[in-house]
Amino acid sequence: MHFLDLILKKRGGNRLSAREISYFIREYVQGNIPDYQVSALLMAIWFSKMDETETRDLTFAMRDSGHIIDLSDIPGIKADKHSTGGVGDTTTLITAPLVAACGLKVAKMSGRGLGHTGGTIDKIESIPGCMTGLNMDRFKEIVSGCGISIIGQTRELVPADKLLYALRDVTGTIDNISLIAASIMSKKLASGSDVIVLDVKTGNGAFMTDRDDAVELARLMVRIGQAARKKMTALVTDMNQPLGNAVGNALEVKEAVEILQGRHPGDLRQVSLALAADMIRAGGLETDEQSAMGRVEKALTSGKGLEKLSRMIEAQGGDPRICEDTGLLPAPDEIISIKAETKGHIAAIRTDRIGNCALLLGAGRRQKNDAVDPAVGIWMGARLGDAVEPGDILATFYINDKTHLDAAIQQFHNAIVIGQSPPKPHSLIYETIE
Ligand code: URA
Ligand code: CA
Repeated sequence: MHFLDLILKKRGGNRLSAREISYFIREYVQGNIPDYQVSALLMAIWFSKMDETETRDLTFAMRDSGHIIDLSDIPGIKADKHSTGGVGDTTTLITAPLVAACGLKVAKMSGRGLGHTGGTIDKIESIPGCMTGLNMDRFKEIVSGCGISIIGQTRELVPADKLLYALRDVTGTIDNISLIAASIMSKKLASGSDVIVLDVKTGNGAFMTDRDDAVELARLMVRIGQAARKKMTALVTDMNQPLGNAVGNALEVKEAVEILQGRHPGDLRQVSLALAADMIRAGGLETDEQSAMGRVEKALTSGKGLEKLSRMIEAQGGDPRICEDTGLLPAPDEIISIKAETKGHIAAIRTDRIGNCALLLGAGRRQKNDAVDPAVGIWMGARLGDAVEPGDILATFYINDKTHLDAAIQQFHNAIVIGQSPPKPHSLIYETIE
């Protein structure tokens, strides 16, 4: 087989066979195909697209490029969740402990922040002492004992995705439904859980800005997971404003803890509980929506969810007292208020810009190897539709390094659109796919 033939085939709009796709992935991971040829193939895929069969074959080939984690020696039903990425999107730290409290085993591998979006691993590492680089034996031990562990993806998990993602990032080929589905699902399938719940974000803070595209992506990933005999469900949820009030690592941990303490009604809590209830149903603990939600709510109000988070933190070397006193989380040198300059309603929030603003404060990475400051970020004081007067607090900035502060303030004001009337109300959860 010659790689050039694959490029020409795809360039001409033809299908690649399962054999051709597995040749591509195998040889690329082994270092036998140069990046420039793979770049050309990725661009041909971007223009000519892949059909569902090709996407599934690509997913399976990528899954098989590294270690596939075997969780079968852990008793119980193993469940995993994945968000396609958002801003103020702290659902994992709420959903996973609740689901564990209901009796599923949560064995989750998470990522770091990507672009303007946050990552669960960066959030967990803001908890003093808490480690995310545990080895597989310790990970499984904690899942068995506590019912929940969240660690970073190991180097052996889907090496094909690490290579391809870095190449897509610099060749303008991130935003293709097949490439995204294969990237996400290969990692989920290699992580070994029986149940996978996907939170596919759509809106101006998501990678899928268009809602129909998000629904198509969600359906595609659900079918691929089902083809691999996983119990799948997906929610398509709104990302036209930060989901919670907090944007930044320790701040998001604080908000998650407060929700598990039974405080903060709102969108973050609602989506987190909906995801948890779907996991409970997909895991077969309950059959109908209402009883699943009832079970999740009980895990919340009884404090059992918070207890699970606390036990996980302790097992991973962190200070579990943050679950009672969030004042023990890293704090910044200074807190400043950002105020409204005009009167009106919050008509739109450019959510990706809010994410970039937190990044300018040091909460995320501008370059791959940048350090993240756990203490900094934004606490949003206003949501879509709120009426504001000049001088009203729109947000609080938690700051240390002021190098990019002026740019961050400018970016924030550019993100908030104050208009004469509130926007049309829209749903938080657009669709449930199973
Ligand atoms: N997240 C991933 O892991 N991969 C993608 O391609 C997009 C989002
Ligand atoms: Ca529906």
